Amino acid sequence: MHEIVKSLFQWYRQNARDLPWRNTADPYEIWVSEVVLQQTRVEQGMPYYEKIISNFPDFSALAHASEDDFLKIWQGLGYYSRARNMLKTAKAVFEDYQGVLPADYEKILALPGIGKYTAAAIASFAFELPHAAIDGNVRRVSARLFGIEDPIGTGIADKKTEENLLKLLPVNSAGLFNQSMIELGATVCVPRNPKCKQCPLNVFCAAFVQKRQDQLPVVQKKKKPVELKLDYVFLQQGDFTWLKKRDNSGIWKGLYEFPCVTGDSDVQILLNNLLADSSGIVLSGTKEFKHQLTHRTIFARFWHFCLPPSIIVHPNEYLRVEMAEVKKLPVHRLMHKYLEQQEIFSAI
Ligand code: ADE
Repeated sequence: MHEIVKSLFQWYRQNARDLPWRNTADPYEIWVSEVVLQQTRVEQGMPYYEKIISNFPDFSALAHASEDDFLKIWQGLGYYSRARNMLKTAKAVFEDYQGVLPADYEKILALPGIGKYTAAAIASFAFELPHAAIDGNVRRVSARLFGIEDPIGTGIADKKTEENLLKLLPVNSAGLFNQSMIELGATVCVPRNPKCKQCPLNVFCAAFVQKRQDQLPVVQKKKKPVELKLDYVFLQQGDFTWLKKRDNSGIWKGLYEFPCVTGDSDVQILLNNLLADSSGIVLSGTKEFKHQLTHRTIFARFWHFCLPPSIIVHPNEYLRVEMAEVKKLPVHRLMHKYLEQQEIFSAI
């Protein structure tokens, strides 16, 4: 075993966080943890991991979950395509592999929502298959350790990272190796002000030896997020409101929200479309939110109208829903923020 790996393992044994998915070799539990952690910090992901495992203990249970029920559990975690892909993967494992994940990297990689990193993580943690799991943490550790100058995340940087890692990867301990690299990146070799004095690999580290920790990895400038204006109309008539399930394109696929217009479209036009006669309605408040998604900055306004019982609403593509039902449906974070502020979640 290489000296680097010996130091790494010794450090890991003494310092690693005790995380629930590290105490299991169950491929289902490992898969759930890896998908939850794809774009989520450990502290935020932990309760979701626990909830998913206790409600759906294996691939077969999840294969039979309804999309609305599962999205409801996922609510607040963001990047909902992960949840929809999980349902597809569970169904595929149930139907094609009798509910048992195959111990085969290529077959795992072919499942929905599983990229190279996640496939390598599952293959090594659950089956000890010799694949290097390269996520953001491991990219950063590797750029510093091996002195990789190509911008982080580019094809060329990833290729060099993988070549270097495969030279170190011990047969039979691929899982431990990958976990240790992830842990080092998450707790010691952090993006800013890495804790090099505590690092078990500092004597081997190109960046440390050259005092270039703050220059590596090389980071390419990100594109500016696109700005988007949204106007939501919260119509309340007695115990009822109107919602729409977003379609399967664009953001927030399959989640519920109030009727909405985008850009500079007029709220009045939406009201005219919804109401037989909008003259008697009362605006009982507006709220504004700035909401950040990865590639979009959303400026949202919520218009809350109370309708007297005499006003007729044309449902069109909207769903007439009892207020008490709203909290049972999966909604996106922006809706959730608004509903919480309106105390709709706590009041019903
Ligand atoms: N992030 C992604 N996978 C992880 C794991 N197995 N442990 C800790 N953080 C992670």
